[in-house]
Amino acid sequence: MPEEGLAGAFSVIEEARAKINLALHVTGQRPDGYHLLDMLVTFTGHGDRLSFAPSQTDVFTLSGRFAGTLTGDSGTNLVLKARDLLREAIGAPAFPVHIHLEKNLPIASGIGGGSADAAAALRGLMRLWGTTLPEEALAALALKLGADVPMCIESRPLIARGIGEKIELVPDLPAFAMVLANPLKGVSTPDVFRRLATKDNPALSLAPGLLGAADWLTAIGAARNDLEPPARELVPEITAISAMLQASGALLTRMSGSGATCFGIFATMTTAKDAAAALHGERPDWYFHATETISGGM
Ligand code: C5P
Repeated sequence: MPEEGLAGAFSVIEEARAKINLALHVTGQRPDGYHLLDMLVTFTGHGDRLSFAPSQTDVFTLSGRFAGTLTGDSGTNLVLKARDLLREAIGAPAFPVHIHLEKNLPIASGIGGGSADAAAALRGLMRLWGTTLPEEALAALALKLGADVPMCIESRPLIARGIGEKIELVPDLPAFAMVLANPLKGVSTPDVFRRLATKDNPALSLAPGLLGAADWLTAIGAARNDLEPPARELVPEITAISAMLQASGALLTRMSGSGATCFGIFATMTTAKDAAAALHGERPDWYFHATETISGGM
């Protein structure tokens, strides 16, 4: 529980929505080793939640299903790294702060939990400290924290290119009813990239602005996640979980990011919730969650 014991004691609250790679094409590699990606990304209603309050000293507390998997070490915790980098960047007195993280998303799972938390920390602390950074400075700071952090600052449907920093919003992407499924095996992103057989795959070809809701599903179906084959080698459960989603009525299933979370898109939230409940019954030790994604029009 938060130190104050009351949610009301926190003056600022930010949602850290899970990031879903509806498509991820690896199109090349930079000289520094980072891969060039074309990604169609959306965000779910479900996520972590960060709460902020002025405090005598800097304090960090945790709750939630996956709280036990994190530490308050400012060398590795992206929320604390974001706090320290933002404080340095604003260059003005930034008073001590209590940050509480409700960790609802599994970690190292391909749905950007850590990146979304870092982005929410930047957004929340700017509100609490009553300051903003110019857009470009904020984007650069976010990128320093991780390739996926700039898109998590947006937290709405977008296409990201480069290593994730070249962002184009997709206002016509519809909301989807979705089940997230994870065998609760953490995946190391660099390990997945290292196992990639080919690094110059065809680019993502989409025509935002021209696609209706039904066409989007077809267009996404025709795209890929190039990280799925190497991730399946590392975590064979991905193949099983994807088959389970399909068997429970998903219109489309795919892995997100570097895995191991897979998503299934369902026709309605009712069918998604029923499927999540049935899958949970089958494998109570895995993670299944029904959620709706954010539409581009919000
Ligand atoms: O930027 P982030 O810390 O999320 O990346 C983690 C690791 O994933 C990088 O160190 C790199 O090995 C790999 N990566 C990559 N190409 C990307 C993003 C990440 O090779 N576009």
